[in-house]
Amino acid sequence: MSGVSRFGVSIETTLLDRFDTAIKQKGYKKRSEAIRDLIREYLIMKEWEQDIETVGVLSLVYSHHSHELQEKLSGMQHEDHDAVISSTHIHLDRHNCLEVVILKGNSSIIKKISERLSSTRGVKHGKLIMTTTGSGLD
Ligand code: NI
Repeated sequence: MSGVSRFGVSIETTLLDRFDTAIKQKGYKKRSEAIRDLIREYLIMKEWEQDIETVGVLSLVYSHHSHELQEKLSGMQHEDHDAVISSTHIHLDRHNCLEVVILKGNSSIIKKISERLSSTRGVKHGKLIMTTTGSGLD
């Protein structure tokens, strides 16, 4: 960590009251913690815009009964083995599977792979969480 800076912010009282209520409901003890998290969130969003190396967590829900689909999704992940660093398959119930794919690489590549996997016929729901390698975030 490279030191701590303090800064003053002028903000409308009603806006600050709403913010304080919202962060209290989320469990924040201090306003500064919530503001730090918002800043980190913004910087991660910028990382994704800049197409630099980052991390994505993709969840896919699909039917267990579609064996071809499982093979297809696995084949696609093999093709992109440089970016796919891990995947886990969970049997949700008798009929549904959840696959969690962890991707590391440039954001444009992660997005492309995630869109391709999510849009594969038979995938019921695909959701990408755009996170970070953590570098540069204290
Ligand atoms: Ni399964």
